[in-house]
Amino acid sequence: MENATQVLNETFKNDVHTGLSASSKFLASKYFYDKIGDALFVKIMNMPEYYLTRAEYDIFKNKTQDLITKLNLNQDTDFDLIELGAGDGTKTKALLKVLSAQQYQYTYTPIDISKNALAHLERQLAVELPEVKVHPKEGDYFNVLETIKSSTKPKVILFLGSNIGNLKDNEAAYFMEKLSASINSKDKIVLGVDLIKSEALVLPAYNDAQGITRQFNLNILQRINNELDANFDLEAFTHDPEYTEAEGIAKSYLKSRKAQDVHIKTLNKTFHFKKDERIHTEISRKYNDSILHAIIKDTPLVVLDKLTDRNAYFADYILEKV
Ligand code: AVI
Repeated sequence: MENATQVLNETFKNDVHTGLSASSKFLASKYFYDKIGDALFVKIMNMPEYYLTRAEYDIFKNKTQDLITKLNLNQDTDFDLIELGAGDGTKTKALLKVLSAQQYQYTYTPIDISKNALAHLERQLAVELPEVKVHPKEGDYFNVLETIKSSTKPKVILFLGSNIGNLKDNEAAYFMEKLSASINSKDKIVLGVDLIKSEALVLPAYNDAQGITRQFNLNILQRINNELDANFDLEAFTHDPEYTEAEGIAKSYLKSRKAQDVHIKTLNKTFHFKKDERIHTEISRKYNDSILHAIIKDTPLVVLDKLTDRNAYFADYILEKV
C-alpha cells in the first residue's frame, strides 16, 4: 500500500514532468512550500517591500470593530470561525482578542495541511489567548469543510493573505464555488485580496533588495534536486519577476542564464533549456471590484462590504451566501 507521502511524491514527479516538457515551461507555485520554502515565506512577510501582510494586519488591528459589525454576529449565538491556512495567526489573533473581550461565543478552527503549523499556532494561542476555544483540523480545506458542513452553527470563513491571488481566474471561480457549496445560507466569508496598483509598489514586493524572493523562487529547483534526484545548478538561473498595472498580475519566472541540460534521475529524463528560456513558477493576481464580481458571479455569494487598509493597498471583502 502506498502511503500519503509516496502519493504526493508521485504527483510532484508527474507535475514536474508535465511542466518541464511543455513548450512554455512551468512549475506550480504550491511546490514552493516545503520546510525551507515555508521559512522563506515567513521572511518575505517581514520584508520592507512586502506590504501585503502589514496592510491586512492594519485592517484586522485597526478596523476590528467594523469587521465584527459587518459580519453581523450575535453575542448570544455560538459560531464557528474557520480559517483556511493557519499561517502564523498574527492577523487573526487581533480579531480573536476583540471577539473574546466582547464575550462572543465561538470556536476557532484553523485548517491547514501542515500539522506543524497547526501545533505551533495552538501552542501560541494557549499562552496568548487561553480563553479561546481552538479546534485545529489538519487536512485539505474542502475535505475538512465537508466534515463540518452538517453543523447548523453560523460560520465565518477566513481566507486571507491574498492566497486566492495564486490561482488563475477560472481556478479562483471554481474555488469560490466549492467554498460556497461547503457553507450554509447566511454564512460569511472574509476574503483578503491585494488590490491592483502601480508597478512601482507591486514589483519590489516580488523582487526585494535582499534577494529573499529569489531564494524562494529558486527553492522549487532545489526541491526537484532533493526529491527527484536532479542536477539543477541554481546559480545558472535568475529570478525574473514582472508586473504591469494594466494586467494586474505579478508573475514570477526562473530564467536560464545559458543553454544547458538538466537531468532528473527519477524521471530518467534530460531537459534542455535555451539561453534566456523561462520557467513560469507563480502568478499573484491583484484584484478590484469588477474582477472579484466576475469571480463570484456564478456562485450564491454576494458582497456585503469591503474593508481596506489606510493606504488602500489591500482589501478584505465580506461575502455572504444567500
Ligand atoms: C502566498 N502568496 C499570497 C504570496 C503572494 O504574494 O503571491 C506568495 C509569494 N510569492 C512571492 N512572494 C510572496
